[in-house]
Amino acid sequence: MSDFTGPDQYQKFFDPKAYLERYFSLAGDTVDEYVHFVLKHLSQVFNSGKVKGETLIDIGTGPSIYQLLSACEAFNEIIATDFTERNREEFKAWLTNQPGAFDWSPVVKYACQLEGDRIPWNEKEDCLRKAIKQVLQCDILKDNPTDPVVVPPADCVLSCLCLESACKDQESYITGLNNISTLLKPGGYLVLVGVLGNVYYMVGERKFSALFLTESFIRESLCNAGYVVEEFVSSEKPDESWEGTAQFSSIYVFVAKKMA
Ligand SMILES: C[S@@+](CC[C@H](N)C(=O)[O-])C[C@H]1O[C@@H](n2cnc3c(N)ncnc32)[C@H](O)[C@@H]1O
Repeated sequence: MSDFTGPDQYQKFFDPKAYLERYFSLAGDTVDEYVHFVLKHLSQVFNSGKVKGETLIDIGTGPSIYQLLSACEAFNEIIATDFTERNREEFKAWLTNQPGAFDWSPVVKYACQLEGDRIPWNEKEDCLRKAIKQVLQCDILKDNPTDPVVVPPADCVLSCLCLESACKDQESYITGLNNISTLLKPGGYLVLVGVLGNVYYMVGERKFSALFLTESFIRESLCNAGYVVEEFVSSEKPDESWEGTAQFSSIYVFVAKKMA
């Protein structure tokens, strides 16, 4: 029997609150190294002036907002997407300021600090809420991932920790990558964020599989899917605090331009 966590298990067992509590509630004032690394680099990417435009689609948003905090000032419209109903509901709870929604404010404050506190954290939250125009169902293994909705190709597609969660092997990773690429305009940017060398991650007491990725496999897949890789950054090996929670060797951000 395969250890792969399939679509039915995501629908049944991916508990958005447990996920957010484990990975995004701050111990004291400090974010963990994943959040720090990703916020820092996404801030550089989206403040560079190069990756900007009208629309950004985030693939596999989950219940999370951290990945959109810098993007919301570079794009007028953001479309969030996820496979599970519960994740979309949790995301919408934050979007509409419902009581009991996850408190992202410490992460938002940290993101603002990294950007030099140009705007107060509550304005950043407002900016993001205004930019998010749709929250759609998504399955990256479908030819049109947002089926039955057809969205016009975007200026940027962002995806964090999704392909490695959704794909059971290298072949399906390549399929997923090609599918999400149909949502991107030629000349637009794909920003891929995730972890290398991982095999699992915990959500509450449940183990979710992760596809073991290497830099060279992602590079080759991007190249074969019609991209030019413009940036790649990765972290040093993370510390031991991840033991028992996830098992990865480094965190990465790829920025790739879709060839016209
Ligand atoms: C580790 S979470 C990452 C969530 C978010 N991007 C983040 O960085 O916190 C993986 C996400 O992939 C989503 N997912 C799993 N299978 C998927 C599929 N076939 N298509 C799209 N998303 C999928 C899950 O619902 C989950 O939200």
